[in-house]
Amino acid sequence: MADKNEPLIVFSPSGKRGRFPKGTPVLQAARSLGVDLDSVCGGRALCGRCQVVVTEGELSKHGIDSRLENLSARGETESRYSERRKLANNRRLGCQALLLGDVAIDVPASSQVHKQVVRKQHEAHDIQINPATHAYFVEVTKPDMHDPSGDLERLKLALQRDWQLEDLRISLPALQTLQTVLRKEDWQVTAAVRSDGEIVAVWPGLKTKLYGVAIDIGSTTIAAHLCDLASGEVLSSAGQMNPQIRFGEDLMSRVSYIMMNEGGETELTAVVREAINNLIAEVVSDAKLSLDTVVEVTIVGNPIMMHLVMGLNPVELGMAPFALASDAAASLPARDLGLTINSGGYVYALPCIAGHVGADAAGVLLAESPYEREEISLIVDVGTNAEMLLGNRDRILAASSPTGPAFEGAQISSGQRAAPGAIERVRIDPETLEPRYRIIGSELWSDDPAFPDSIPACGVTGICGSGIIEAIAELYLAGVINSDGTISGDAAKRSDRVTADGRTFSYTLLRGERDITVQQNDVRAIQLAKAALYAGARLLMEKLGVEKVDRIRLAGAFGAHIDVKYAMVLGMIPDCRLDMVSSAGNAAGTGARIALLDNNSRSEIEKQTRNVEKIETAVEERFQHHFVAAMAIPHDADAFDELEKVVKLPKKTVQMTTSGRRRRRR
Ligand code: FES
Repeated sequence: MADKNEPLIVFSPSGKRGRFPKGTPVLQAARSLGVDLDSVCGGRALCGRCQVVVTEGELSKHGIDSRLENLSARGETESRYSERRKLANNRRLGCQALLLGDVAIDVPASSQVHKQVVRKQHEAHDIQINPATHAYFVEVTKPDMHDPSGDLERLKLALQRDWQLEDLRISLPALQTLQTVLRKEDWQVTAAVRSDGEIVAVWPGLKTKLYGVAIDIGSTTIAAHLCDLASGEVLSSAGQMNPQIRFGEDLMSRVSYIMMNEGGETELTAVVREAINNLIAEVVSDAKLSLDTVVEVTIVGNPIMMHLVMGLNPVELGMAPFALASDAAASLPARDLGLTINSGGYVYALPCIAGHVGADAAGVLLAESPYEREEISLIVDVGTNAEMLLGNRDRILAASSPTGPAFEGAQISSGQRAAPGAIERVRIDPETLEPRYRIIGSELWSDDPAFPDSIPACGVTGICGSGIIEAIAELYLAGVINSDGTISGDAAKRSDRVTADGRTFSYTLLRGERDITVQQNDVRAIQLAKAALYAGARLLMEKLGVEKVDRIRLAGAFGAHIDVKYAMVLGMIPDCRLDMVSSAGNAAGTGARIALLDNNSRSEIEKQTRNVEKIETAVEERFQHHFVAAMAIPHDADAFDELEKVVKLPKKTVQMTTSGRRRRRR
């Protein structure tokens, strides 16, 4: 027989239930049952993080009649909170509402500590919220002549008493401000405590929100995302060009700069850190917050960028055997890296996988988690180098292929970066060879009557990476480009858009003040880039012992823009069911965000990267073999059965005999 003095409380969504003496606060019941219900103020009706909702009605599933009045009415403290912070009518503060009878309590996602952030549909899985640093509000006992203990010792006692935090230590910056902070709001303070027991910051009064910034350092651009560490919400994002570009467009020229200029590494470290600080300041000010509420930063980037941010000289990465100073993840005080967040805050740098496969690839690995799947995934992050991961739950291999900057529009006669005015989509009529195209900044195709009025003010300025790939693939499908990559002179008889250009031919995509053309050298540059990418993937498949991959994920901005069908027609990626090829978005940045929000993910990615088998393309004989065969469009020998189910590929013309030349790593 149920004891009326010990009502039943049932929590959803956890399903946890138990009986407690009448008068027990809901928060206390939740805690003793291990229900995930948040609190920063420790039950003082200040933080509002413990909000719950009563599910009313006869709940046969639980065998209870759950009623609002089975919780105590709103008292003065809760009403005061409601006046100040507007507590919705159906919500109660779990720390104030007392159990009077049987009740079913729903803990909304916003009140859960370990809530999940639902990621976009195309992304791998949701993010678990479990940040490395939490806020704890306490009232510290005042000093007493008869009890001569230090302020820190009394703060530790309060944290132990109210939050069961043991063996704490404190960062020097937090200790330096502690005495002033404690006295500012009558000994009521909020301490930010890391999971390893370090008090990193202390603020006067109640501070319910802590923030973190996830940073993705590319060789061309740097991006920062400011996140609420409790909700996981991205509050603002910003990006800027990597100012190191002035020392060299590609990574190797920056390493050469360091080799040739004494102290060059210090200069490169200083500019990248300054850029990161500017970005952090920008996202924090956009969200109208102050820098001292930012207590965590996570960083991903290629190995050279990771070295430079940490103030390590990257010259060893410029030559074989490409030794990293360390491939381990690093958790460092932000002040040691000169980062201007809270002076006690921390930076977590994700681990590098190998000398050419950096923490950005570790971020991709974390975001995509191919190690949790049965199917074989090929994940490619296309940039100046293409970083690749291949495998499944049994084995993961990684490599980096020197694709060069052609996919980013560089080394292409009319090429440009993806920016308004750049041609990004191309279709060519296989009969007339007349083109139509779309540009960044307009939603319309060029043959739409309204197109001329939709062009951005800059006009049509050039062709970006996805545009040149589509143009070459379409020219191949239309029979203008042969499978060996030659622009055919015969096509000149079919259209005056194909014209002789010295000893080769070119195709004019757009006639204007400045013609936009596809020249023979452009096709060669793209062939070299795509052959490097394909060869890397093929080498990994060979090592893994598979002939086919089950799915392909294209990460990075390039992956988001490219039409996968054309990438396959060109032979950039191996044959695969087209509906199994998709964009992974900015997976490296997502990995940085996961590491920021979920402390457990850090040990996970550290473990996974240790298990990854690294393949160094530069020393693999078979890479060169695959590279030469992959110069043909789509390939000299490999079949593209899946692709041919949806696209009719032209008959092969000339067998590839060209000896591909080894590419310099960028
Ligand atoms: S625990 Fe802070 S308001 Fe209830």
